[in-house]
Amino acid sequence: MVVEVGSAVDWPAVFAERTARMQPSQIRGFLKLLGDPEIISFAGGIPDPALFPVEPITDAANTILADPSLRNHALQYGPSEGYGPLREWIVGHMARRGVPCATGNVVITTGSQQALDLIARVLIDAGDLVLTTAPSYLGAIQALTIYGPRWGTLDLDRPDAKATWRRATAAYLVPEFSNPDGTTLSLTDRHRLLDLATQGVTVVIEDAAYEALRFEGNHLPALQGLDIARCGSIEDSRVLYAGTFSKTIAPGLRVGWIVAPGAVVEKIVLALQAAELHSSMLDQMIVHQVVAAGFDAQVARLLPVYRQRRDAMLAALDTHMPAGVTWERPAGGMFVWLTLPEGMDSLALLADSLANDKVIFVPGTSFFPDGSGHRYLRLNYTRSDEATIEEGIARLGRAIERMMEVQE
Ligand SMILES: Cc1ncc(COP(=O)(O)O)c(C=O)c1O
Repeated sequence: MVVEVGSAVDWPAVFAERTARMQPSQIRGFLKLLGDPEIISFAGGIPDPALFPVEPITDAANTILADPSLRNHALQYGPSEGYGPLREWIVGHMARRGVPCATGNVVITTGSQQALDLIARVLIDAGDLVLTTAPSYLGAIQALTIYGPRWGTLDLDRPDAKATWRRATAAYLVPEFSNPDGTTLSLTDRHRLLDLATQGVTVVIEDAAYEALRFEGNHLPALQGLDIARCGSIEDSRVLYAGTFSKTIAPGLRVGWIVAPGAVVEKIVLALQAAELHSSMLDQMIVHQVVAAGFDAQVARLLPVYRQRRDAMLAALDTHMPAGVTWERPAGGMFVWLTLPEGMDSLALLADSLANDKVIFVPGTSFFPDGSGHRYLRLNYTRSDEATIEEGIARLGRAIERMMEVQE
């Protein structure tokens, strides 16, 4: 190719091949609409900012910046593995989840989104078979797709499950109050999943983003803990755990973590060094002070509010949804997953409900690696108060009814 001196750069021709696999997130597009006061948004997995622990965060920041030794730590380059005291706190937190591990098994990441990217970087070659639930968290689909996997469906009941798992490099799932469909994997199914994973060499990526937000029933043991109980030590476990403080403390601080066998931690730390040297020391130190002083108290503040909002959404759905629309009751987390009648398309519904009713949600297609899922939509209930939920669901019910009438 002859390129004239001084001609403009043809960026698409210059970009690396992997950029073709980078897909925009529909959800991040919707976040821009949140500023419009007329729009009721059920999009986004967004905590209520009124519930951020503002005072503890302010106190922690002030304490750190006022103390010369802490300040030097917070503002200086730090270790790639993360802030030692926070890693130690996470060891205690994981023990409460039934995961015995040591500080050397913990890496702090810039949110659990980075955890997913780093895990994919060290694990996935182009063409590897990766299983995930249908639907699955769109941010994980986005992060992993860059590395060129072939996607397969994680469905324990499929007749060919055994053969599929034997060929799979990794399986990704959100076992508690999944994003997007709110489902939780039962204890029996956790064991069935580990049985399938241990037939071959499949690594299980356990995303525990919503685990702390349980409104009812008992907490279930982490897949990683169950696997360690089977194999004897985290060093022999095939489960990699991604955690986050985004849903309990504040997502803007961008603090998450990975728990993994030492050999995996070593590679992940190298990948993290290459990406960003280390995640923000100040943010890690603030989070450490906040969680060490009152993680449980903060979660206890969130649960009754989010539970009431979940109940308000379920009640509003009962009142306003036309016959033929179905949903499940989530036991925690942030989402209700709606199934529309056969033949309806949630993308078309979104365009219509945005234009005419000023209510938005995330269409189901975002959550399927193959772009299917037109009949589904995800509703978030944590960011809106009960009156807004009632009004928004009434508007959505009207939009769905209108669309059903047009289709008849
Ligand atoms: C299932 C799941 N995993 C990971 C993340 C990433 O969160 P963060 O990077 O803020 O920890 C999200 C965010 O919505 C999520 O829903």
